[in-house]
Amino acid sequence: MDTTGSVITVEALAKVNLTLEVLGKRPDGYHALRSVVMPVSLADTVTLSRTGGLVALSVSAGEGVNLTHLGPVERNLAVRAARLMQTRYRVGAGARIHIHKRIPIGGGLGGGSADAAAVIRGLNSLWGLGLPRGEMMELGAELGSDVPALAHGGAVLMEGRGEYVTGLFEGVAAEDCKGFWLVIANPGVMCPTGEVFKRWKPGLTPAPHFLHNMRSFVRGGQAEAAAGILFNGLQVGVFERYPEVAGAAARLRSAGCLGCLLSGSGASVFGLVRDEAHGQEVLCGLDGLWGVLVRTCPVV
Ligand code: C5P
Repeated sequence: MDTTGSVITVEALAKVNLTLEVLGKRPDGYHALRSVVMPVSLADTVTLSRTGGLVALSVSAGEGVNLTHLGPVERNLAVRAARLMQTRYRVGAGARIHIHKRIPIGGGLGGGSADAAAVIRGLNSLWGLGLPRGEMMELGAELGSDVPALAHGGAVLMEGRGEYVTGLFEGVAAEDCKGFWLVIANPGVMCPTGEVFKRWKPGLTPAPHFLHNMRSFVRGGQAEAAAGILFNGLQVGVFERYPEVAGAAARLRSAGCLGCLLSGSGASVFGLVRDEAHGQEVLCGLDGLWGVLVRTCPVV
């Protein structure tokens, strides 16, 4: 977070789900999940400046980002986060929010949720609220299922509908957690999260030791081993309904990824690669499909 006077700039990191188990449907209509959520080095830049009382939003687009996919301002999670904080804490001040978007919109990469988490962290500081991380995560849970994980930061295990979040590398120094490189590809279609969950059918879920193994493979930077245990319970339904997404995954595979997976509820897919040079090779093999080479960011 970068603070200069009454302006704060926060990097809002995208995420991928290295594992996403859907455990069943809950009485409230949401699905119970168990997911390893991993922030990556693709980020929106959120700039917040203090105003007299209004909350205003402007958005600019990075390469390949289609702003026509952005919903109405009133439904924007970043705006809703600011308004929620204003009313909850009776803040008289407002904020001008500018988001430079690099994360594809509606792509299963948590872009909107990351922006909301960045607004919560930034306004906590800009408005001098002094909220602890747990309270910021609780605010995030009122906005969307992915927000608490992104407000926590770093690699986390996400459970419930997203409201239970545990850091996977608490107390581990960044240099002791290697992580790996991956290529994210996006076919440009939208997969509405609610519809994707509706199509979910109970099936096999991985054994519990997958989680433990994924944690140790990330820490050791063992991309090849991690590629062998990637899992997303929503993938089959999304590939059936959206052939463009299945096509993007096939393209990643034929470009030489170690293993690839749907991220969240789609439409982005990602493939693990051995190192940066291998990632560049895979990118070149994508043949016009939008793609980006990123590093995992397991430790905040
Ligand atoms: O919480 P969020 O607004 O991101 O969720 C969007 C939709 O996705 C929900 O309305 C719900 O239909 C579905 N969903 C679900 N189970 C989850 C998360 C989301 O069924 N754990």
